[in-house]
Amino acid sequence: MTLRACAYPALILILLGVLALAAPSLDTNLSSRRLQWLLKRDTTMNITLVRDNAVLIAMRSWELGTLAEALTELEYPSLSVLASPIVTNVVDVYPSDVVSIAVAVLSAKPSWSLALISSDTSVGDPCSIGPAMLLANWTFNDASFSSAAYGQLTYLLSYAPRSSSGAISHRTDQVQLWSDFVYMAPPFIAYYGALADSLDLLQQAYNQVVLYRQELFDEDVGLWRHVTLGGWQDTNHWATVRNGWAAAGMLRVLMTIRGSTQASGVWAYQQPSGAILNYIDVDPASTFTDASSTALLAATTFRFATLTGDQTHAEAAARAYAFVQSSVDANGWLWGTTDVLTWSVPSATGVASPEGQSFVLLMQAAYDAWRTALQLEIANSIVF
Ligand SMILES: *[C@@H]1O[C@H](CO)[C@@H](O)[C@H](O)[C@H]1NC(C)=O
Ligand SMILES: *[C@@H]1O[C@H](CO)[C@@H](O)[C@H](O)[C@H]1NC(C)=O
Ligand SMILES: *[C@@H]1O[C@H](CO)[C@@H](O)[C@H](O)[C@H]1NC(C)=O
Repeated sequence: MTLRACAYPALILILLGVLALAAPSLDTNLSSRRLQWLLKRDTTMNITLVRDNAVLIAMRSWELGTLAEALTELEYPSLSVLASPIVTNVVDVYPSDVVSIAVAVLSAKPSWSLALISSDTSVGDPCSIGPAMLLANWTFNDASFSSAAYGQLTYLLSYAPRSSSGAISHRTDQVQLWSDFVYMAPPFIAYYGALADSLDLLQQAYNQVVLYRQELFDEDVGLWRHVTLGGWQDTNHWATVRNGWAAAGMLRVLMTIRGSTQASGVWAYQQPSGAILNYIDVDPASTFTDASSTALLAATTFRFATLTGDQTHAEAAARAYAFVQSSVDANGWLWGTTDVLTWSVPSATGVASPEGQSFVLLMQAAYDAWRTALQLEIANSIVF
C-alpha cells in the first residue's frame, strides 16, 4: 500500500482525534419529526445566478481562493477534500472553472515570485489558491501548476515570518496572526501533504491550527478574536469572517478540537431571524446582521454534522440557511453583508461581497451533502 492510500485515514486519525470517537447516532440528536421538517426545505435561490455573480466579482487573492474552493465543493464534490478518500484519478470529471482560476493566477504571476500572488501584503491569502493549483496539476497534468504550488509552499514554510511559538504570520511585513489564516493556509498545507504522501506536512497543517487557536481563541466566550501580535490588535469577535474563516478552515483540516467548541460558541448568539450579527456578542441594536458569515457558518455546521453525525447545531444551521436564502435576490446577489475591507460597517448600498457570493455556494454544497447523508440514513434506519 502506498502512503497516499493511507494518507487520508492518517489525516483523520491525526486531526479528528476524539471527534471521530464521539460521533453520536442519529436518533440521539434530532427527533424524526424535526428531521422530516428540516429536510423538506428546498432551495428558493437560483444557485446558477449566485455562482455566475461570484465568478464575476472575485478579484483579490482570498476571494479567488475561496471561489475556487466553493466551485470545487459545489460542482465537483467528488474532487473536494470533503469527499473521502481524496482522489487523484478521476477521469470523467474535469473541473474547468477551477482550472481557469489557476490558469489566470499563473499567467499573472511573475517568475520571481514564490507566492502565487506577487506583492500581496498577506502571507496566508495567496495560499488559498494553492489547492486549485494542485487540482489543476493533476487534472491538467502540467508541471507549471505543480512548481507554482511548490513555490507557494516553500515561501509559506521557509520564508514567511513566524511568531516565537512557530505560528506563521498572516502578514508579510511583520508577525501578526489573523484568524482568516486558518482558512487560507493550513488546508493548502494539508492538501499538499495528502497528495505528496507527506505525514510531516499533514502534521504541520495541524500544528498551525493549534498554534492559531492558542493565540486567538477566547475560551471565556467560545469565540475567536480577529488579530493578535504585530503593530495593532483587533480583539473583537467579528462574525464574518473572523469566526467563520477559522471554523471553516479548521473543518477543512479536520481538526481535533470538537466542532461544538467553535460552532456552538457562535450559534448561542444567533438572532431570531436566523442571522448572525457582524459583531457577534454585542447588543443587536449596536451592530447589524451579516449574511456572509451566516452563510459560511451554516456551511461549516452542515459539513460538521455530515462528517460526525452530531446534529446538535443542524437546526440552527437550517435557520441560517433560510435566512441566507431570503437575503439572495432574484438576480442571484446576496445582500446584507459586511464590507470586506473594514469589517465594521455594512457593505455600501449596491456593492456585493465577493466572498459572500462564494459562501452561499459553500453553504448550498454543504446543505446538499448533509441532506443526502441524512436521507440515506433515514432510508437505512429502522427507526423511521
Ligand atoms: C447530540 O449528540 C452529541 C454527541 O453525543 C451530544 O454531545 C449533544 O449533547 C447532543 N445534542 C442534543 C441536542 O441532544
Ligand atoms: C436560473 O437562472 C438562469 C439564468 O437566468 C436560468 O437559465 C435558469 O433556468 C434558472 N434556474 C432556475 C432553477 O430557475
Ligand atoms: C502533479 O501531478 C503529477 C501528475 O499527476 C503528480 O505526479 C505530482 O505528484 C503532482 N504534484 C503535486 C505537487 O501534487
